[in-house]
Amino acid sequence: MNEILKGLIDKLDREKKLPHGEWVTLFDGFTDEEREYAASVARKIADEKYGKKIYIRGIVEFSNYCKNDCLYCGIRRSNRNAQRYRLTDDEILACCDEGYETGFRTFVLQSGEDPAYTTDRLVEIVRRIKAAHPDCAVTLSLGELEREDLARLREAGADRYLLRHETATKCHYEQLHPDFMSFEHRMKCLQDLKELGYQTGTGMMIGAPFANSDTLASDLEFLCEFKPHMVGTGPFLPHKDTPFRDEPKGSYELTLFVLSLVRIMLPNVLLPATTALGTIRPNGREQGVLHGANVIMPNLSPTAVRKKYMLYDNKICTEDSTTECRFCLQRRMESIGYEIEITRGDYCDD
Ligand code: 5AD
Ligand code: FES
Repeated sequence: MNEILKGLIDKLDREKKLPHGEWVTLFDGFTDEEREYAASVARKIADEKYGKKIYIRGIVEFSNYCKNDCLYCGIRRSNRNAQRYRLTDDEILACCDEGYETGFRTFVLQSGEDPAYTTDRLVEIVRRIKAAHPDCAVTLSLGELEREDLARLREAGADRYLLRHETATKCHYEQLHPDFMSFEHRMKCLQDLKELGYQTGTGMMIGAPFANSDTLASDLEFLCEFKPHMVGTGPFLPHKDTPFRDEPKGSYELTLFVLSLVRIMLPNVLLPATTALGTIRPNGREQGVLHGANVIMPNLSPTAVRKKYMLYDNKICTEDSTTECRFCLQRRMESIGYEIEITRGDYCDD
C-alpha cells in the first residue's frame, strides 16, 4: 500500500477534513489496496454507529414530468421520447400503504420538477401520508422550491428533503445544466432546507462529464462544510436520449472509494448504496454497504410506470414489484452479514 495515501486516509479519520490538494492526491493515486483500506476504516465506523443494520426507504416516483433540462438526465424536458406519467394522490397513498405492509417506515416522494403538483396539493399529500402512517417519516425529493413552499411542506409534516448539489464547482454546474438553471439558487435551497429543520440530503454523481479530481475534491470540501444528514452518490450513467449519450460511465471503484471517504469524514451520515451503484455492477449495492453505506432506497412505484422513470439507461428493478424488491434486498443484505431494519431510521447524532 502507498504509505502517503494511507497516511491521508488516517489523517481524514483523525481530523475529519483534508485540504483540497490532499483530496486530489487521494483521487489521483488510489488503487484497490487503498480503496480496500478506506473501506475497512469506513465499515468499522458504520458498524460502531449503526451496527449491522441497514435502513430502507421506499421511493415513490410519482411524476416524470420535469420543467428542467439537466443534460445528464433521461427525464429532462427536451427528451421527446420519454413517456410522461403522473400518479394521482390516491395512487401515491396506495404505494405508501403497500410499502407500509412490506416493512417501510420512510416514504420518499420523488418527481421531476412538475408544476402540476402545487404546494397546496403536496401539502395535502404529505398530510394524508402522515395521518395514515404517523410512525413513518416522509422525505421529499422534488427539486428546487422556494423557501416559503419548503416551509409549508415542513409544517405539513415532511421530515427530510433530498436535493443533490450535483457539483460544488459553479462552472462545472453550468456545464451540466441549461442556462436557466442556477448554481446559486440550488445552494440557497440547500441552505433553506437546513434552516427550516429538514434532515437534509445532498450529493453528487461520480464521473459526470467534465468532472475531475479537482471538482471531486471541491465536492468533498463542500460536504465537509455543509454537514448534510444524508449523502446520495452514485456513478454517472449515460442515457441514450440525452446530450451525454456517448459519454463514459463514472468509475465504479471511484464511487466506492468516495463512499468510504464520506463515511470516514462524516461518521454519522446516512449513506445510501444507490440504485445507480446497483446498475453499474450486479452486486454494487452490497459492495456499497461493505464500503460504509447504511441505507438502501428501493422503489415503491407501481410496476407499470417504473420503466418510465429512467434517469439513465438500464436502471435496475424496473420489472419488479415492491414485495419482490423488499425480499430481494433482504437476501442481498443477509448474504453479506447485514439485516434490514424496520424503523424510520433517523439521523443519529452521537
Ligand atoms: N446517471 C446517474 N445519476 C443520475 N441522476 C440523474 N441523471 C443521472 C444519470 N444519467 C441523479 C442526479 C439526481 C438524482 C435524482 O439522480 O444526481 O439528483
Ligand atoms: Fe429490486 Fe432486487 S432490489 S429486484
